[in-house]
Amino acid sequence: MLQLVPFLLVLFILQVDYSSACGSPSGGPGASGRISENAIADPMISYPWRSWNPYDPYGFQYQPSPRFSQHPEGSANTFFRHHPNNLGSCRSSCTGERGNCLDSQTCSLAGGRASGSCENNLVCCINVVNSCNRGWARHAETVILNNTYWQSSLKPIKPSSSCSLTVKLDSRWPAGLPPPVPPTSFVTPVCQVRLDFLVFTISQPDSESVCSGDYFEVAGATNTVPNICGFNDGQHMYLHVPNSAIAPTDLQLTFNFGSSNSEVRAWNILISMIPCDSPRLAPSGCLQYFTARTGSVRTFNWRDVVGTATRQLANQDYSICFRAAPSTPRQLCLTPCTVVTTQKAFSLSTPNAGIVSAATTTFVPVPDVSQVGSLDCNNDFIVIPGGFNIGNPAPVPNMAFDRYCGERLNALPRNNASTTICTTATPFRVLYRTNRDETLTFPTADSIPINSIPVNGNRGFCLNFKV
Ligand SMILES: *[C@@H]1O[C@H](CO)[C@@H](O)[C@H](O)[C@H]1NC(C)=O
Ligand SMILES: *[C@@H]1O[C@H](CO)[C@@H](O)[C@H](O)[C@H]1NC(C)=O
Repeated sequence: MLQLVPFLLVLFILQVDYSSACGSPSGGPGASGRISENAIADPMISYPWRSWNPYDPYGFQYQPSPRFSQHPEGSANTFFRHHPNNLGSCRSSCTGERGNCLDSQTCSLAGGRASGSCENNLVCCINVVNSCNRGWARHAETVILNNTYWQSSLKPIKPSSSCSLTVKLDSRWPAGLPPPVPPTSFVTPVCQVRLDFLVFTISQPDSESVCSGDYFEVAGATNTVPNICGFNDGQHMYLHVPNSAIAPTDLQLTFNFGSSNSEVRAWNILISMIPCDSPRLAPSGCLQYFTARTGSVRTFNWRDVVGTATRQLANQDYSICFRAAPSTPRQLCLTPCTVVTTQKAFSLSTPNAGIVSAATTTFVPVPDVSQVGSLDCNNDFIVIPGGFNIGNPAPVPNMAFDRYCGERLNALPRNNASTTICTTATPFRVLYRTNRDETLTFPTADSIPINSIPVNGNRGFCLNFKV
Protein backbone atom coordinates (compact mmCIF):
# COMPACT_ATOMS: atom_id res chain seq x y z
CA MET A 1 0.00 0.00 0.00
CA LEU A 2 1.47 3.24 -1.03
CA GLN A 3 1.58 6.04 1.40
CA LEU A 4 -0.08 9.22 0.31
CA VAL A 5 0.28 12.52 1.99
CA PRO A 6 -2.59 12.43 4.45
CA PHE A 7 -4.30 15.72 4.34
CA LEU A 8 -7.92 16.30 3.75
CA LEU A 9 -9.21 18.04 0.76
CA VAL A 10 -12.65 19.37 0.92
CA LEU A 11 -12.77 20.61 -2.53
CA PHE A 12 -16.14 21.17 -3.81
CA ILE A 13 -18.89 22.03 -1.45
CA LEU A 14 -20.72 23.53 -4.23
CA GLN A 15 -23.80 24.77 -5.76
CA VAL A 16 -24.82 22.27 -8.39
CA ASP A 17 -27.12 24.17 -10.60
CA TYR A 18 -28.27 22.18 -13.54
CA SER A 19 -31.55 23.97 -13.75
CA SER A 20 -30.25 27.17 -15.22
CA ALA A 21 -30.41 27.64 -18.95
CA CYS A 22 -26.65 27.55 -19.11
CA GLY A 23 -26.14 24.65 -16.78
CA SER A 24 -26.58 21.66 -19.03
CA PRO A 25 -24.41 18.84 -17.74
CA SER A 26 -24.34 17.15 -21.10
CA GLY A 27 -22.75 19.93 -22.98
CA GLY A 28 -25.25 22.33 -24.42
CA PRO A 29 -24.15 25.50 -26.09
CA GLY A 30 -20.43 25.52 -26.52
CA ALA A 31 -17.93 27.11 -24.25
CA SER A 32 -14.85 28.51 -25.81
CA GLY A 33 -12.59 25.96 -24.22
CA ARG A 34 -9.74 23.92 -25.52
CA ILE A 35 -7.92 21.02 -24.04
CA SER A 36 -4.37 21.90 -23.34
CA GLU A 37 -1.60 19.94 -25.01
CA ASN A 38 -0.54 18.80 -21.58
CA ALA A 39 -3.92 17.25 -21.01
CA ILE A 40 -3.76 15.27 -24.20
CA ALA A 41 -0.29 14.01 -23.37
CA ASP A 42 -1.31 13.08 -19.86
CA PRO A 43 -1.63 9.30 -19.49
CA MET A 44 -3.97 9.57 -16.52
CA ILE A 45 -6.43 11.81 -18.29
CA SER A 46 -7.71 8.91 -20.36
CA TYR A 47 -7.35 6.32 -17.63
CA PRO A 48 -10.14 4.53 -15.75
CA TRP A 49 -10.31 7.06 -12.94
CA ARG A 50 -12.52 9.03 -15.21
CA SER A 51 -15.11 6.33 -15.52
CA TRP A 52 -14.98 5.59 -11.80
CA ASN A 53 -13.89 2.06 -12.39
CA PRO A 54 -12.68 0.48 -9.16
CA TYR A 55 -9.58 -0.62 -11.02
CA ASP A 56 -6.79 1.78 -10.46
CA PRO A 57 -3.66 1.73 -12.60
CA TYR A 58 -1.43 2.59 -9.69
CA GLY A 59 -2.76 -0.02 -7.32
CA PHE A 60 -5.36 1.93 -5.37
CA GLN A 61 -8.83 0.64 -4.81
CA TYR A 62 -11.02 3.50 -5.72
CA GLN A 63 -14.35 3.56 -3.96
CA PRO A 64 -17.01 5.63 -5.64
CA SER A 65 -18.17 8.50 -3.54
CA PRO A 66 -20.42 11.47 -4.07
CA ARG A 67 -17.68 13.87 -3.01
CA PHE A 68 -13.94 13.58 -3.29
CA SER A 69 -13.65 15.02 0.16
CA GLN A 70 -14.82 11.76 1.65
CA HIS A 71 -11.87 9.92 0.17
CA PRO A 72 -8.92 12.11 0.81
CA GLU A 73 -6.44 9.40 -0.02
CA GLY A 74 -8.21 7.89 -2.99
CA SER A 75 -6.97 7.98 -6.51
CA ALA A 76 -9.39 10.67 -7.53
CA ASN A 77 -7.86 12.87 -4.93
CA THR A 78 -4.41 11.99 -6.15
CA PHE A 79 -5.47 13.08 -9.55
CA PHE A 80 -6.74 16.39 -8.33
CA ARG A 81 -3.70 17.02 -6.24
CA HIS A 82 -1.37 16.45 -9.07
CA HIS A 83 -3.18 17.13 -12.24
CA PRO A 84 -5.21 20.25 -11.78
CA ASN A 85 -2.94 22.34 -13.85
CA ASN A 86 -3.05 19.93 -16.70
CA LEU A 87 -6.72 20.51 -17.23
CA GLY A 88 -7.54 22.75 -20.12
CA SER A 89 -9.14 25.95 -18.99
CA CYS A 90 -12.32 27.23 -20.56
CA ARG A 91 -14.80 30.04 -20.32
CA SER A 92 -18.53 29.47 -20.20
CA SER A 93 -20.21 31.04 -23.18
CA CYS A 94 -23.35 31.34 -21.06
CA THR A 95 -22.10 33.11 -17.97
CA GLY A 96 -18.58 34.15 -18.89
CA GLU A 97 -17.27 32.22 -15.89
CA ARG A 98 -13.94 30.46 -16.14
CA GLY A 99 -13.63 26.75 -15.59
CA ASN A 100 -11.74 23.61 -16.47
CA CYS A 101 -12.53 21.07 -19.17
CA LEU A 102 -13.71 17.83 -17.53
CA ASP A 103 -16.02 15.02 -18.46
CA SER A 104 -19.50 15.68 -17.20
CA GLN A 105 -19.53 12.79 -14.73
CA THR A 106 -16.35 13.94 -13.03
CA CYS A 107 -17.66 17.45 -13.00
CA SER A 108 -20.84 16.51 -11.20
CA LEU A 109 -19.10 14.08 -8.85
CA ALA A 110 -16.74 16.84 -7.95
CA GLY A 111 -19.69 19.07 -7.25
CA GLY A 112 -18.87 21.35 -10.14
CA ARG A 113 -21.38 22.88 -12.49
CA ALA A 114 -21.21 22.22 -16.20
CA SER A 115 -21.67 25.32 -18.26
CA GLY A 116 -21.14 24.79 -21.93
CA SER A 117 -18.82 22.32 -23.56
CA CYS A 118 -15.18 21.85 -24.47
CA GLU A 119 -13.75 19.76 -27.26
CA ASN A 120 -13.79 15.94 -27.08
CA ASN A 121 -17.16 15.82 -25.32
CA LEU A 122 -15.82 17.49 -22.21
CA VAL A 123 -17.84 20.09 -20.37
CA CYS A 124 -16.66 23.42 -19.09
CA CYS A 125 -16.82 22.67 -15.38
CA ILE A 126 -17.22 25.69 -13.10
CA ASN A 127 -15.78 25.16 -9.62
CA VAL A 128 -17.15 27.09 -6.72
CA VAL A 129 -16.14 26.85 -3.07
CA ASN A 130 -18.43 28.63 -0.69
CA SER A 131 -17.90 27.36 2.79
CA CYS A 132 -15.57 28.25 5.62
CA ASN A 133 -13.37 26.01 7.68
CA ARG A 134 -15.26 22.90 6.75
CA GLY A 135 -12.27 20.64 6.29
CA TRP A 136 -10.77 18.04 8.53
CA ALA A 137 -10.41 19.31 12.10
CA ARG A 138 -11.96 22.53 10.82
CA HIS A 139 -8.87 23.31 8.86
CA ALA A 140 -9.19 25.82 6.12
CA GLU A 141 -10.97 24.85 2.95
CA THR A 142 -8.44 23.73 0.36
CA VAL A 143 -8.31 24.59 -3.31
CA ILE A 144 -6.02 22.96 -5.84
CA LEU A 145 -7.90 23.54 -9.06
CA ASN A 146 -7.16 26.39 -11.38
CA ASN A 147 -10.05 28.81 -11.99
CA THR A 148 -11.86 28.25 -8.70
CA TYR A 149 -14.40 30.78 -7.46
CA TRP A 150 -14.34 31.38 -3.73
CA GLN A 151 -17.69 32.79 -2.71
CA SER A 152 -19.13 33.84 0.59
CA SER A 153 -21.60 31.40 2.02
CA LEU A 154 -25.28 32.17 1.93
CA LYS A 155 -25.33 31.41 5.63
CA PRO A 156 -24.94 34.43 7.90
CA ILE A 157 -21.39 35.16 8.98
CA LYS A 158 -20.80 35.20 12.71
CA PRO A 159 -19.15 38.33 14.07
CA SER A 160 -15.64 37.85 15.53
CA SER A 161 -15.01 34.85 13.32
CA SER A 162 -12.80 34.12 10.36
CA CYS A 163 -13.00 32.29 7.08
CA SER A 164 -9.91 30.80 5.45
CA LEU A 165 -9.05 29.15 2.20
CA THR A 166 -5.81 27.35 1.45
CA VAL A 167 -4.57 27.41 -2.12
CA LYS A 168 -2.27 24.44 -2.49
CA LEU A 169 0.38 24.71 -5.15
CA ASP A 170 2.26 21.47 -5.60
CA SER A 171 3.36 20.40 -9.05
CA ARG A 172 5.71 17.63 -7.99
CA TRP A 173 5.17 14.07 -9.02
CA PRO A 174 4.05 12.32 -5.82
CA ALA A 175 6.75 10.35 -4.07
CA GLY A 176 5.94 6.66 -4.05
CA LEU A 177 4.00 6.64 -7.28
CA PRO A 178 5.51 4.95 -10.30
CA PRO A 179 6.89 7.56 -12.66
CA PRO A 180 4.57 8.67 -15.43
CA VAL A 181 4.81 7.04 -18.85
CA PRO A 182 6.14 8.64 -20.91
CA PRO A 183 8.35 10.52 -18.46
CA THR A 184 7.19 14.07 -18.29
CA SER A 185 7.33 16.94 -15.89
CA PHE A 186 3.60 16.31 -15.93
CA VAL A 187 2.16 19.26 -14.16
CA THR A 188 2.54 22.85 -15.18
CA PRO A 189 4.71 24.68 -12.66
CA VAL A 190 2.93 27.69 -11.21
CA CYS A 191 4.75 30.88 -10.20
CA GLN A 192 1.91 33.28 -9.46
CA VAL A 193 -1.71 33.23 -8.39
CA ARG A 194 -4.03 35.99 -9.49
CA LEU A 195 -7.00 36.92 -7.33
CA ASP A 196 -9.83 38.73 -9.07
CA PHE A 197 -12.18 40.32 -6.58
CA LEU A 198 -15.41 40.14 -8.56
CA VAL A 199 -17.37 40.94 -5.42
CA PHE A 200 -15.66 42.14 -2.24
CA THR A 201 -17.47 43.97 0.51
CA ILE A 202 -16.52 43.86 4.18
CA SER A 203 -16.47 46.60 6.80
CA GLN A 204 -14.91 50.01 6.16
CA PRO A 205 -11.69 51.17 7.82
CA ASP A 206 -11.95 53.43 10.84
CA SER A 207 -11.31 57.18 10.59
CA GLU A 208 -7.57 56.54 11.08
CA SER A 209 -7.67 54.37 7.91
CA VAL A 210 -7.03 51.18 9.86
CA CYS A 211 -8.98 48.02 9.01
CA SER A 212 -9.83 47.63 12.66
CA GLY A 213 -13.04 45.65 12.06
CA ASP A 214 -13.02 43.20 9.19
CA TYR A 215 -9.95 42.61 7.08
CA PHE A 216 -8.70 40.28 4.38
CA GLU A 217 -5.17 38.94 4.61
CA VAL A 218 -2.90 36.73 2.55
CA ALA A 219 -0.14 34.53 3.90
CA GLY A 220 2.48 32.60 1.98
CA ALA A 221 3.25 34.94 -0.91
CA THR A 222 6.80 36.17 -1.48
CA ASN A 223 5.67 39.68 -2.39
CA THR A 224 4.27 42.12 0.16
CA VAL A 225 0.49 41.79 0.25
CA PRO A 226 -1.31 44.46 2.28
CA ASN A 227 -4.28 43.70 4.48
CA ILE A 228 -7.36 45.27 2.96
CA CYS A 229 -10.96 45.96 3.89
CA GLY A 230 -13.97 47.86 2.60
CA PHE A 231 -15.18 47.74 -1.00
CA ASN A 232 -12.94 46.15 -3.61
CA ASP A 233 -15.13 44.98 -6.48
CA GLY A 234 -13.08 44.84 -9.67
CA GLN A 235 -9.72 44.92 -7.90
CA HIS A 236 -7.06 42.26 -8.35
CA MET A 237 -3.85 41.00 -6.73
CA TYR A 238 -0.94 38.96 -7.96
CA LEU A 239 0.52 36.64 -5.34
CA HIS A 240 4.06 35.57 -6.15
CA VAL A 241 5.17 32.13 -5.05
CA PRO A 242 8.28 29.99 -5.56
CA ASN A 243 8.08 27.69 -8.59
CA SER A 244 5.53 25.06 -7.50
CA ALA A 245 7.49 22.24 -9.11
CA ILE A 246 10.51 23.01 -6.92
CA ALA A 247 9.23 24.56 -3.70
CA PRO A 248 5.49 23.88 -3.31
CA THR A 249 3.74 26.59 -1.35
CA ASP A 250 0.46 26.90 0.44
CA LEU A 251 -1.17 30.28 0.18
CA GLN A 252 -3.68 31.12 2.84
CA LEU A 253 -6.44 33.62 2.16
CA THR A 254 -8.37 34.72 5.23
CA PHE A 255 -11.29 36.97 5.96
CA ASN A 256 -11.21 38.09 9.59
CA PHE A 257 -14.46 39.51 10.82
CA GLY A 258 -14.80 42.13 13.52
CA SER A 259 -17.35 42.18 16.28
CA SER A 260 -19.96 44.18 14.37
CA ASN A 261 -23.10 42.29 13.56
CA SER A 262 -24.45 44.75 11.05
CA GLU A 263 -21.90 44.63 8.26
CA VAL A 264 -22.57 43.60 4.69
CA ARG A 265 -20.07 40.81 4.07
CA ALA A 266 -19.93 39.23 0.64
CA TRP A 267 -17.25 38.08 -1.76
CA ASN A 268 -16.66 36.19 -4.97
CA ILE A 269 -12.98 35.75 -5.77
CA LEU A 270 -11.69 34.07 -8.91
CA ILE A 271 -8.44 32.26 -8.16
CA SER A 272 -6.28 31.58 -11.20
CA MET A 273 -2.89 29.93 -11.29
CA ILE A 274 -0.37 31.38 -13.68
CA PRO A 275 2.23 29.03 -15.18
CA CYS A 276 5.88 29.99 -14.75
CA ASP A 277 6.33 30.36 -18.51
CA SER A 278 3.15 32.36 -19.08
CA PRO A 279 3.24 35.74 -20.81
CA ARG A 280 0.57 36.71 -18.26
CA LEU A 281 3.04 36.69 -15.36
CA ALA A 282 3.24 40.03 -13.59
CA PRO A 283 6.75 41.50 -13.38
CA SER A 284 8.70 40.76 -10.22
CA GLY A 285 7.21 42.20 -7.05
CA CYS A 286 4.08 43.71 -8.62
CA LEU A 287 0.89 43.33 -6.59
CA GLN A 288 -1.18 44.78 -9.40
CA TYR A 289 -0.42 44.52 -13.09
CA PHE A 290 -2.24 46.24 -15.92
CA THR A 291 -1.65 44.98 -19.44
CA ALA A 292 -4.06 47.20 -21.37
CA ARG A 293 -2.90 50.48 -22.86
CA THR A 294 -5.54 52.47 -21.01
CA GLY A 295 -7.65 51.90 -17.94
CA SER A 296 -7.93 53.02 -14.38
CA VAL A 297 -6.13 52.01 -11.24
CA ARG A 298 -7.73 52.53 -7.85
CA THR A 299 -6.32 52.06 -4.40
CA PHE A 300 -8.09 49.40 -2.39
CA ASN A 301 -11.44 50.69 -1.11
CA TRP A 302 -11.48 53.76 -3.39
CA ARG A 303 -14.99 54.20 -4.69
CA ASP A 304 -16.93 56.95 -6.41
CA VAL A 305 -19.57 57.38 -3.73
CA VAL A 306 -20.84 60.37 -1.80
CA GLY A 307 -19.26 60.76 1.61
CA THR A 308 -16.42 62.30 3.50
CA ALA A 309 -15.32 59.25 5.48
CA THR A 310 -11.78 57.97 5.32
CA ARG A 311 -11.46 55.39 2.54
CA GLN A 312 -7.68 55.23 2.30
CA LEU A 313 -6.23 52.13 3.97
CA ALA A 314 -3.32 52.14 6.40
CA ASN A 315 -0.11 50.14 5.99
CA GLN A 316 -0.20 49.82 2.23
CA ASP A 317 3.13 49.22 0.54
CA TYR A 318 2.91 47.79 -2.92
CA SER A 319 3.86 48.23 -6.55
CA ILE A 320 1.41 48.76 -9.39
CA CYS A 321 2.88 47.79 -12.75
CA PHE A 322 1.93 48.55 -16.32
CA ARG A 323 2.94 46.72 -19.44
CA ALA A 324 4.88 49.00 -21.72
CA ALA A 325 3.38 49.35 -25.17
CA PRO A 326 5.56 49.90 -28.23
CA SER A 327 4.40 53.50 -28.44
CA THR A 328 6.16 56.76 -29.03
CA PRO A 329 6.87 58.59 -26.88
CA ARG A 330 7.43 55.70 -24.52
CA GLN A 331 5.78 56.95 -21.39
CA LEU A 332 3.21 56.20 -18.73
CA CYS A 333 0.74 58.98 -17.95
CA LEU A 334 -1.60 59.14 -14.98
CA THR A 335 -4.61 61.45 -14.60
CA PRO A 336 -7.05 61.56 -11.67
CA CYS A 337 -10.37 59.95 -12.68
CA THR A 338 -13.48 61.97 -13.38
CA VAL A 339 -15.94 61.36 -10.60
CA VAL A 340 -19.71 61.59 -10.73
CA THR A 341 -20.17 62.20 -7.01
CA THR A 342 -18.39 64.59 -4.69
CA GLN A 343 -15.76 61.91 -4.12
CA LYS A 344 -12.11 62.92 -4.36
CA ALA A 345 -10.11 61.16 -7.07
CA PHE A 346 -6.77 61.93 -5.44
CA SER A 347 -6.65 62.31 -1.69
CA LEU A 348 -3.59 60.95 0.08
CA SER A 349 -2.78 63.56 2.72
CA THR A 350 -3.66 67.06 3.76
CA PRO A 351 -0.78 69.49 3.32
CA ASN A 352 0.15 71.76 6.18
CA ALA A 353 0.56 75.48 5.84
CA GLY A 354 3.40 75.47 8.30
CA ILE A 355 3.75 76.48 11.88
CA VAL A 356 1.41 79.20 12.99
CA SER A 357 2.95 79.70 16.35
CA ALA A 358 6.43 78.67 17.37
CA ALA A 359 5.25 78.64 20.96
CA THR A 360 2.57 76.04 20.40
CA THR A 361 4.01 74.57 17.19
CA THR A 362 0.55 74.33 15.71
CA PHE A 363 0.29 73.17 12.13
CA VAL A 364 -2.54 74.35 9.95
CA PRO A 365 -3.89 72.01 7.27
CA VAL A 366 -4.45 73.36 3.76
CA PRO A 367 -6.93 71.13 1.95
CA ASP A 368 -7.27 70.59 -1.78
CA VAL A 369 -3.77 71.32 -2.99
CA SER A 370 -0.90 69.24 -4.33
CA GLN A 371 2.25 68.24 -2.52
CA VAL A 372 5.45 66.73 -3.86
CA GLY A 373 8.83 65.59 -2.68
CA SER A 374 10.09 63.37 0.07
CA LEU A 375 10.04 66.00 2.81
CA ASP A 376 6.37 66.90 2.37
CA CYS A 377 5.21 63.45 1.29
CA ASN A 378 6.58 61.36 4.10
CA ASN A 379 3.41 59.73 5.42
CA ASP A 380 1.11 58.59 2.64
CA PHE A 381 2.23 58.96 -0.96
CA ILE A 382 2.56 57.55 -4.45
CA VAL A 383 5.95 57.27 -6.15
CA ILE A 384 5.95 58.01 -9.88
CA PRO A 385 9.65 57.86 -10.71
CA GLY A 386 10.76 61.00 -12.50
CA GLY A 387 7.17 62.22 -12.93
CA PHE A 388 6.54 65.50 -14.73
CA ASN A 389 3.49 67.51 -15.75
CA ILE A 390 2.33 66.57 -19.23
CA GLY A 391 3.39 69.15 -21.79
CA ASN A 392 6.19 70.35 -19.58
CA PRO A 393 8.61 67.47 -19.69
CA ALA A 394 11.73 67.01 -17.69
CA PRO A 395 14.40 68.14 -17.60
CA VAL A 396 12.89 71.41 -16.56
CA PRO A 397 14.36 72.67 -13.32
CA ASN A 398 12.32 71.60 -10.30
CA MET A 399 9.69 69.94 -12.41
CA ALA A 400 10.36 66.22 -12.10
CA PHE A 401 9.42 64.63 -8.81
CA ASP A 402 9.20 61.09 -7.56
CA ARG A 403 6.78 61.45 -4.65
CA TYR A 404 3.27 62.83 -4.87
CA CYS A 405 0.71 63.36 -2.15
CA GLY A 406 -1.78 65.97 -1.02
CA GLU A 407 -5.21 66.19 -2.59
CA ARG A 408 -4.27 67.19 -6.13
CA LEU A 409 -1.90 65.42 -8.50
CA ASN A 410 0.50 68.04 -9.80
CA ALA A 411 4.27 68.40 -10.00
CA LEU A 412 3.78 72.02 -8.96
CA PRO A 413 3.46 72.02 -5.18
CA ARG A 414 0.53 73.79 -3.46
CA ASN A 415 -1.41 73.82 -6.70
CA ASN A 416 -5.18 73.67 -6.51
CA ALA A 417 -5.64 71.79 -9.82
CA SER A 418 -4.79 68.24 -10.73
CA THR A 419 -3.08 67.54 -14.00
CA THR A 420 -1.60 64.57 -15.85
CA ILE A 421 1.73 63.26 -14.58
CA CYS A 422 3.89 61.30 -17.01
CA THR A 423 7.06 59.32 -16.60
CA THR A 424 9.48 57.79 -19.05
CA ALA A 425 11.09 55.54 -16.44
CA THR A 426 10.70 51.90 -17.47
CA PRO A 427 9.62 49.32 -16.50
CA PHE A 428 6.46 51.27 -15.71
CA ARG A 429 5.79 50.89 -12.05
CA VAL A 430 4.43 53.12 -9.32
CA LEU A 431 4.65 52.54 -5.61
CA TYR A 432 1.86 53.29 -3.16
CA ARG A 433 2.68 53.61 0.47
CA THR A 434 0.70 54.64 3.53
CA ASN A 435 1.70 54.62 7.15
CA ARG A 436 -0.22 53.23 10.04
CA ASP A 437 -2.73 56.05 10.55
CA GLU A 438 -4.05 59.35 9.22
CA THR A 439 -2.10 61.49 11.62
CA LEU A 440 0.55 63.60 9.94
CA THR A 441 3.93 63.56 11.54
CA PHE A 442 6.57 66.12 10.70
CA PRO A 443 10.29 65.76 10.90
CA THR A 444 12.08 67.64 13.61
CA ALA A 445 13.17 71.02 12.28
CA ASP A 446 15.87 72.62 14.35
CA SER A 447 14.54 73.11 17.84
CA ILE A 448 10.95 72.33 16.97
CA PRO A 449 9.83 68.99 18.32
CA ILE A 450 8.05 66.45 16.20
CA ASN A 451 4.45 67.49 16.00
CA SER A 452 1.40 66.07 14.44
CA ILE A 453 -2.12 66.98 13.47
CA PRO A 454 -4.89 64.52 12.84
CA VAL A 455 -6.03 64.70 9.25
CA ASN A 456 -8.83 62.28 8.62
CA GLY A 457 -10.92 61.63 5.59
CA ASN A 458 -8.41 60.77 2.88
CA ARG A 459 -9.73 58.52 0.16
CA GLY A 460 -6.72 57.16 -1.73
CA PHE A 461 -6.77 57.56 -5.50
CA CYS A 462 -8.34 56.60 -8.77
CA LEU A 463 -6.05 57.33 -11.71
CA ASN A 464 -6.66 56.83 -15.40
CA PHE A 465 -3.53 55.47 -17.04
CA LYS A 466 -2.25 55.49 -20.58
CA VAL A 467 0.89 53.82 -21.86
C1 LIG B 1 -5.36 28.66 -15.43
O1 LIG B 1 -6.37 29.17 -16.27
C2 LIG B 1 -5.96 30.30 -17.02
C3 LIG B 1 -7.17 30.79 -17.79
O2 LIG B 1 -8.17 31.18 -16.91
C4 LIG B 1 -4.84 29.92 -17.94
O3 LIG B 1 -4.39 31.07 -18.63
C5 LIG B 1 -3.69 29.35 -17.13
O4 LIG B 1 -2.69 28.90 -17.99
C6 LIG B 1 -4.19 28.20 -16.27
N1 LIG B 1 -3.12 27.79 -15.37
C7 LIG B 1 -2.56 26.61 -15.42
C8 LIG B 1 -1.52 26.33 -14.40
O5 LIG B 1 -2.86 25.77 -16.24
C1 LIG C 1 -6.61 78.13 -7.74
O1 LIG C 1 -5.39 78.86 -7.85
C2 LIG C 1 -5.48 79.92 -8.78
C3 LIG C 1 -4.08 80.50 -8.97
O2 LIG C 1 -3.46 80.70 -7.72
C4 LIG C 1 -6.48 80.96 -8.30
O3 LIG C 1 -6.58 82.01 -9.20
C5 LIG C 1 -7.82 80.26 -8.15
O4 LIG C 1 -8.77 81.16 -7.58
C6 LIG C 1 -7.72 79.03 -7.27
N1 LIG C 1 -8.98 78.32 -7.30
C7 LIG C 1 -9.57 77.87 -6.20
C8 LIG C 1 -10.85 77.14 -6.40
O5 LIG C 1 -9.11 78.07 -5.10
